Amino acid sequence: MSRVKEKLIFAPGEAASSSSSANTTAAAAAAAATDPSHQAAPAAQAAQFKQSTLHRSALNPSPSPNSTPGSPTPPAHFPSPVPETCTLSTAHLPSGRVSSRMVYLKELDSRGFVIYSNWGTSQKARDFATNRHVALCFWWKGVERQVRVEGVGERLTTDESQIYFDTRARGSRLGAWASRQSEVLIPRPAKVTKTDTDGEEKEVVTEGREDDGRAQLEEQVREIEDKFAGHDQIPVPDFWGGLRVIPDMVEFWQGRESRLHDRFRYQKVSAGEGEGGGEWKIERLNP
Ligand SMILES: Cc1cc2nc3c(=O)[nH]c(=O)nc-3n(C[C@H](O)[C@H](O)[C@H](O)COP(=O)(O)O)c2cc1C
Repeated sequence: MSRVKEKLIFAPGEAASSSSSANTTAAAAAAAATDPSHQAAPAAQAAQFKQSTLHRSALNPSPSPNSTPGSPTPPAHFPSPVPETCTLSTAHLPSGRVSSRMVYLKELDSRGFVIYSNWGTSQKARDFATNRHVALCFWWKGVERQVRVEGVGERLTTDESQIYFDTRARGSRLGAWASRQSEVLIPRPAKVTKTDTDGEEKEVVTEGREDDGRAQLEEQVREIEDKFAGHDQIPVPDFWGGLRVIPDMVEFWQGRESRLHDRFRYQKVSAGEGEGGGEWKIERLNP
């Protein structure tokens, strides 16, 4: 009996097979793992990063949002779709338990990185209430660059959050009000109104159409639609708004061949006003 465990994931990179099917890739990987004659050539085993390089001479003195390459702002010709997509990581204290989720970066200036979310019921809200240290991580595949940001979060004021809130579609503004983000939605039996033989309307519980919790959300949305019916101007909820991540560490990672990547870490050494928000130390890191 073979003692070699079947590999279910062949990572990182693609198997030698040109097929993009995950199953085929896994099968090729499994074959390679169990039969030496199937071993892919090393060059085919791991995708190589070849798009670009980073050199200290090209870096800005601070991780300024206004120029590249030492900048978290993607260049205008940016080939990565939705480059503002990033993970936000938070950590609860005293448990130390970490959680991550995708968010959209909405604003960036020399003061920091602004994201918008629910600060009432979400996990990030619970974590942030105990620990203001947060981290963001961007992956821009088109230019094979990762940008990591660490710092302390600071809630935007209601007035500041309102400015962004007003730009959102009405449905999204009502959605922010209606969603008790990350709270459990309770399933309930589906009810339909039927007219019986003597013309009387009554609610009947239908078999086989059990609600899975979505009905509660839709009811919450209806309540909010009623609350703001006829109002064009909708106030930002007090449990919702912006969080500015004030960075004290920004790292630019540029994929290079043979996993010998370029990495430059900016660490804030002193706070200050204006471009970059202070003085930064720049160091190259081992890949
Ligand atoms: C691409 C993408 C972008 C997202 N952007 C946001 C966002 O900007 N703000 C937000 O609150 N949730 C956003 N979400 C949903 C979050 O990932 C997450 O489900 C939600 O914030 C609740 O997380 P929490 O309870 O861990 O705090 C996004 C999800 C995806 C997949």
